[in-house]
Amino acid sequence: MKVFSGTASKKLSLKVAKELGLRLSPIEVFVFPDLEKRIRIGESVVGQECLIIASIAIPPDENYMELFIMIDALKRSGAGIVKVLIPYLGYQRQDHVFRDGEAVSLEVIAKILSTVGASEIFTFDLHSQKIPEVFSIPVKHLSALALFSKRIEKDFKSEELVLVSPDMGGIRRIKQVSELLGGIPFATITKNRDLGSGEISDSGIEGFVRGKIAVIVDDMVSTGKTLVEGSELLLNEGATKVYAFATHAILAKHAEKLLQHSKIERVFVSDSIDIPSYNMFPKLEVLTISKIAADAIKNS
Ligand code: R5P
Repeated sequence: MKVFSGTASKKLSLKVAKELGLRLSPIEVFVFPDLEKRIRIGESVVGQECLIIASIAIPPDENYMELFIMIDALKRSGAGIVKVLIPYLGYQRQDHVFRDGEAVSLEVIAKILSTVGASEIFTFDLHSQKIPEVFSIPVKHLSALALFSKRIEKDFKSEELVLVSPDMGGIRRIKQVSELLGGIPFATITKNRDLGSGEISDSGIEGFVRGKIAVIVDDMVSTGKTLVEGSELLLNEGATKVYAFATHAILAKHAEKLLQHSKIERVFVSDSIDIPSYNMFPKLEVLTISKIAADAIKNS
């Protein structure tokens, strides 16, 4: 197998390639003055199975376009099967029509990926379990939750803990982590979100958090508002401390400042997205998903 990395995913790609016992194959990405890209595969791939590793975080459109033309370059160069590891699948939150007149952007992405020649997608902690159904090619849905559970088990005593889902949509996730940890209690933050503005109103908590260390588990941290507002609510309701785990560290709009200055003790994320140095902050700890990804690819 030959492994290629998208320009925004070099750090994770190197780790996954190492786990696979392979090196990254050369690929030339030339950027024209108008920011269009020209992609050229740097070695023969004729008849070879290829893997592209490309997370689709900020800027998502640019990263997707690069991925589409990387797949095209491989197929035109004679590659056999092209598998794609997209640790963070951009546009996944637009998986159905929420309001009349909207596009289903994820379906557009799915159609392009299969049309250009991707054979199989590997991805992590999707926002909804139904997302693979949008694709006409196999989607292997992997998770960082077992990795997070091991860390929770190592750092905390289960009797002092309560797991927290930051919204009703995360209940399945929090139940899964609870099961992995032998059935420890969980609570859910309830809130109403305006579909137009995204603003939240009427927050509350279902479950018992008083006197407990609250560990929020979410799929992604974007602006950081969900975690920060959730932590304030939990502390107001008597939680003694708040920790947060989220698979995808999108870190938009200076989330690093918001999280660093929040009352959250520590924020654990995975390396599904390569985190640039300007997004790093002292409270942040990054756990690697490289072995989980490599094992899934080896077994596929
Ligand atoms: C929402 O449904 C997601 O699971 C995340 O909670 C949300 O996308 C996080 O966004 P932000 O960090 O901007 O609050």
